[in-house]
Amino acid sequence: MNKKTIELSFEVYDSIDQLSEADAILLRQARELTTTAYAPYSKFLVSAVARLNNGKIVTGTNQENASYPVSICAERSLLASTGALFPKEPLEAMAVTYHNLNADTHSNRPISPCGMCRQALVETEVRFQQPIRLILSGMEGEVYVIAKADQLLPLSFSGVDLLG
Ligand code: THU
Repeated sequence: MNKKTIELSFEVYDSIDQLSEADAILLRQARELTTTAYAPYSKFLVSAVARLNNGKIVTGTNQENASYPVSICAERSLLASTGALFPKEPLEAMAVTYHNLNADTHSNRPISPCGMCRQALVETEVRFQQPIRLILSGMEGEVYVIAKADQLLPLSFSGVDLLG
């Protein structure tokens, strides 16, 4: 028997002020965008803002539905619109943030993408053979920076497995 260990290492910043300007621009815009999320059921407003290789900025917000499972997360709404509008353009970095209207808290702890979004992010990294840098935060406070989305999905399944 062999034992294997997979480690996750990422950067933690006290606030947006410590980020590089390139990362701060994405997070700042994501924080402004939460107000446009369509989340009347959960009241948990999520937004994502990404920079593509060509420098273009793309955005996504969660889009809920009265039939709850039809809803889509901010990250996957961004990936879907990017795939449609810029089918050849890899993503360099994506900031994700949220505003939880249910809580008296300040939405000041980073969230990280759900399992389904992690799978979608890995698909995009494999598709373009390029890491997506994740900048995860809330409306204020700490920011996590993860160099490559697939670090969040160890032993992931991808198209490579389908080749046999
Ligand atoms: N949600 C996202 O959009 N992204 C995440 O990373 C976590 C959860 C959405 C899904 C649903 O509309 C609401 O947040 C509450 O789960």
